[in-house]
Amino acid sequence: MKRIKAIYPGSFDPPTNGHLDLIDRGSKIFDELVVAILRNPEKDPLFSLTDRRQMLESMTAGYDNVSIDTFHGLTVDYALRVEASAILRGIRAISDYEYELQMALMNRKLQPGLETVFMMPAEKYSYLSSRLVREVAELGGSIDCLVPELVAQKVREKMDVAHKFSDGDKTAKQASAAISAEMARPERGAPERGPKSKPRKKKS
Ligand code: PNS
Repeated sequence: MKRIKAIYPGSFDPPTNGHLDLIDRGSKIFDELVVAILRNPEKDPLFSLTDRRQMLESMTAGYDNVSIDTFHGLTVDYALRVEASAILRGIRAISDYEYELQMALMNRKLQPGLETVFMMPAEKYSYLSSRLVREVAELGGSIDCLVPELVAQKVREKMDVAHKFSDGDKTAKQASAAISAEMARPERGAPERGPKSKPRKKKS
């Protein structure tokens, strides 16, 4: 019998309870599900690929048919490489639909044999996005019900470092930039950061 393998591509910066909800649903309809983190040199992520991979690996440790991987380039090329026949994406609200439809149709144009499957996360996660998690955390709000505990811990660590580097006038974001500059010093070893990110269409 044909086994159906799907990829669930995304930025996962950081992974949220909404992502986990979708992984759980996807793991039930696909024989194999690969959560594929995009390595995007144009984005300036809060978490390194290694961090995101570790967080997702811990979050999905209980799923036998879920694995974590990273990729760069076109999603459809990656899907072909790993012999997946479907792309899983989440739609939370109507606002996601236009962007997701555009992407799904472009992917179909590029690779007609590959299907995009949309699933809806639980309603309680319909407002949740990685961008909002980052913003709430940066501004000192609680993210405890939005992400798994291990992710909340990692985010808090990031914010603690950001605040340590900040002075009274700096926002956490500015402080983050200060840390990036500090980390980019040759003796510290540059992290995975690229040029300034472009505006995004969807809150992932
Ligand atoms: O979590 P995100 O940021 O919403 O995920 C977006 C992602 C990674 C699925 C999308 O940007 C993507 O597929 N990027 C890879 C490049 C690509 O294939 N572009 C053409 C898509 S139509």
